[in-house]
Amino acid sequence: MAVRARNTKITLMRLLPHYLPIEAQRRLLAEIRALLERAPLYSPAMPRSGSPYSVRMSNCGPLGWLSDRSGYRYSPTHPVTGEPWPAIPAMVLDLWRAATGAAYEPQACLVNYYGPAANLGLPRDKDGAAKDAPILSISLGDTALFRIGGPQRNSPTRSAKLASGDVVVLSGPARHWYHGVDRILPGTSRLLPEGGRFNLTLRRVTPP
Ligand code: SIN
Repeated sequence: MAVRARNTKITLMRLLPHYLPIEAQRRLLAEIRALLERAPLYSPAMPRSGSPYSVRMSNCGPLGWLSDRSGYRYSPTHPVTGEPWPAIPAMVLDLWRAATGAAYEPQACLVNYYGPAANLGLPRDKDGAAKDAPILSISLGDTALFRIGGPQRNSPTRSAKLASGDVVVLSGPARHWYHGVDRILPGTSRLLPEGGRFNLTLRRVTPP
């Protein structure tokens, strides 16, 4: 699936199905488990209401994406342990270079874990500093029903199934489009013995 800017050849969203073969998925899962030992998953709170997300989160890289009552922001440290985030695994940086073609490195890698009943509303990247940088999303485990809208909360949306090993690249203005996960389709992958889905979302935060 590719979404192009109207009347141009600019590709805004590229879905690369089966990008990671099963062996690479297993290696990536081992990397994620190792980094979660140092930066455990925690339950973030939504801006204003403080209600917990159903998705649990962690990060790796120099900056981590956080959400709490006061809003969204990037932070160099884990909000629960106070420790710096672990480094982004080398294989993830290789994936970033290969899939995005970017000559610079991402600074934030959000690690989301979706249990069978988790979903994610349509958040939006509002940070303007690195506005031309792509976003890379890597899916592992159960298939997710991913929804992508547009620049406005009420822009029309379309959905795509993201299976284990699938990769999505959002480029240009699509970086700021509303997107989320409607639901997980339990039992669609055997990669995670506990079920559910990991998603890594890589972003450049400051201009390269
Ligand atoms: C996100 O954009 O933060 C996550 C999207 C996903 O889980 O596919």
